[in-house]
Amino acid sequence: MRKLGILVGCCVLTLGSTPGPLLPLTTEAPAQQLTAEVPAKVAPEPSYPDIASNDELTPRLNGPRIVGTTPGREFIYRIPATGAPPLTYTVANLPAGLTFDATTGIIRGRVLREGTTPVSITIRNRHGVARATLRIVAGRNQLALTPPLGWNSWNVWGTTVSDEKVRAAAEALEKTGLAACGYRYVCIDDGWQGRRAPDGTMQPNERFPDLKALGDFLHAKGFLFGIYTSPGPFTCGRYVGSWRHEEADARLYAQWGVDYLKHDWCSYEGIARQKTPEVLQRPYAVMRAALDKTERDIVYAICQYGLGEVWTWARNPAIGGNLWRTTGDIEDTWESVSTIGFQHSPLARFAGPGGWNDPDMLVVGVVGWGSGTRPTRLTPDEQMTHVTLWALLAAPLILGCDVTQLNEFTRRLLTNPEVIAIDQDELGMAATRRAAAGDGTEVWARPLVDGRLAVGLFNRSEEMRTVLARWSDLGLTGRRTVRDVWQRRDVGVFDQVFAALVPPHGTRLIVIGPPRPMPRRSLPSP
Ligand code: GAL
Repeated sequence: MRKLGILVGCCVLTLGSTPGPLLPLTTEAPAQQLTAEVPAKVAPEPSYPDIASNDELTPRLNGPRIVGTTPGREFIYRIPATGAPPLTYTVANLPAGLTFDATTGIIRGRVLREGTTPVSITIRNRHGVARATLRIVAGRNQLALTPPLGWNSWNVWGTTVSDEKVRAAAEALEKTGLAACGYRYVCIDDGWQGRRAPDGTMQPNERFPDLKALGDFLHAKGFLFGIYTSPGPFTCGRYVGSWRHEEADARLYAQWGVDYLKHDWCSYEGIARQKTPEVLQRPYAVMRAALDKTERDIVYAICQYGLGEVWTWARNPAIGGNLWRTTGDIEDTWESVSTIGFQHSPLARFAGPGGWNDPDMLVVGVVGWGSGTRPTRLTPDEQMTHVTLWALLAAPLILGCDVTQLNEFTRRLLTNPEVIAIDQDELGMAATRRAAAGDGTEVWARPLVDGRLAVGLFNRSEEMRTVLARWSDLGLTGRRTVRDVWQRRDVGVFDQVFAALVPPHGTRLIVIGPPRPMPRRSLPSP
C-alpha cells in the first residue's frame, strides 16, 4: 500500500492509499464461491480498496441505539453483537411486557405502556466487555426510527424466489455475521403470489408452501418478515396484486406474521390515468388504513419510483410511509448507482426518524434478478462508493445479493460497524453535498448525534484525483481529529482541510471530531 504526503495549510497530510492488493480471503469461503467475484482468466484482477475487517475479538453492540414499537403489539429484537464466541448477554431495565432470552440474545413480547425505556445491555466474552444503552420507544408510529437494515429477494432471485431461497438467505445472514451487524428484515419481493381462492383470499404459489411457517422460522431467529404487493390488479412481475382486496390482504399478512410491506405501484398506472396528488396518494392511503386495522407493527415501504415528489407527502399521517423509493429501479452499473445516489442532496431534509428516502436496494455482491447469478458489475471502488453514499444518505440498507455467496470483500463492505453506525445514527440527518469541485470530486457530510461529522470524499471522474474536504465548506473551524471509517483508524489531527487521493469512482469516508485545543508548547524554564 502506497502513501503520499503533501503540505496543506499547517499540516502534512497523509493521502489515501492507492488501490491495494486483493484482500486475504478467509478459509471459510469455498473456492467456487470466491471465483464468483473474480472475472475470467484473461481479465485483470480487480484491485480492492483498503477495508478493515470486523473480526475483532472484543464484544461490540452493533446496529441502532434506538428502536420503536407500539404498545400491545408483537415486538422482536435480536441484539446485534459481534466478538469472539461465546458471547454472554445481560439485559437490565426492560420495559414491562418484554422478556429476554440470554441464549439467543432475542428480546420479545408486547410492551404494556407508552414511554421510552433506556435498556442497559452488557455483552461479555473472554476478551472483554461492552456496555451500551438501547432505547426502546413505545408509542404510536414509532417504527423505523432508524433506516431498516435487511435483505430482499429481488435483485438476486427476481421472480424465481422460493421459500427455500428465503430460508437460505436468513441462515446465511446468521452464518456470515451480517445479522450480528444489524441486518434483520428478510423480505420476499415479487413472485410469491398464486391465485385468489373463490372467497377472495390470496394464496401463495407452489414455491411458498406455508408463509405462516416461514414467518415463524424467521421470527424464531429474531428476524423480521417482509412481503410485497401492488395497489394495482397486477404486480410488475404480472402476479396478482391487492387492488380491491387491501383489507383482506393486510389481515392475511398480519396472520402470517408480516412485519414489513413493500407496496409497489406497477399496474396501478392503468387505474391512475391522471397523476394528481390525490390520485397518486389514494392507493397508499387505502393500504395504510388496512394496515392500521391489523393491530400489527408493519413497516410500510412505499414504492412508486418518486412520482409526484413522494418525499413531500409520504409521511402524512394518512399515508404513514416509513420509507419511499425516490427513483426507478437500480442496476449494477456505475451510471445507475451514481445517478441515483448523487441526486439526493435536495431530498435530505425529507428524511428523518420514522421516514426515509429509499434510493433502492444495494447492488453489491452476487446479483442476477432471477436470470442466473453473477457478480455485480460494479468495481470494488464503485461498490465502496455505493455503500458509503447510502450510509451517508441515511438510506435503508437492504441487501440485494445472494448472501450464501459472499466473498471476503463484500462481507467487509457490509459488516463495517462504523459505516453501519453512520447509517443508523439516531439523529437521522441525511447528508447533503457540501462541495463539488468541477473536476468530478464532491464532498458530502452528515452530522451525527454525538456532535461529530461524517464526511464522504467522492471522485466521480475517470482519473485519480485529490479530493479536498475544506472546513470552510463543512462549517467547521479549528484543529480536529479525523478517523478513516473504512480503515477503522484515526489518521491524525487536521486544521482547515483534509485531503485524500481517491481513485476513479472511489471514496474516502471519514468522521471529523470536535475541536481540539492547540498543543501547549513546553517553554524552557527560565
Ligand atoms: C419494481 C420495483 C422493484 C421490484 C419489482 C418487482 O417496480 O421497483 O424493486 O420490486 O418491481 O416486480
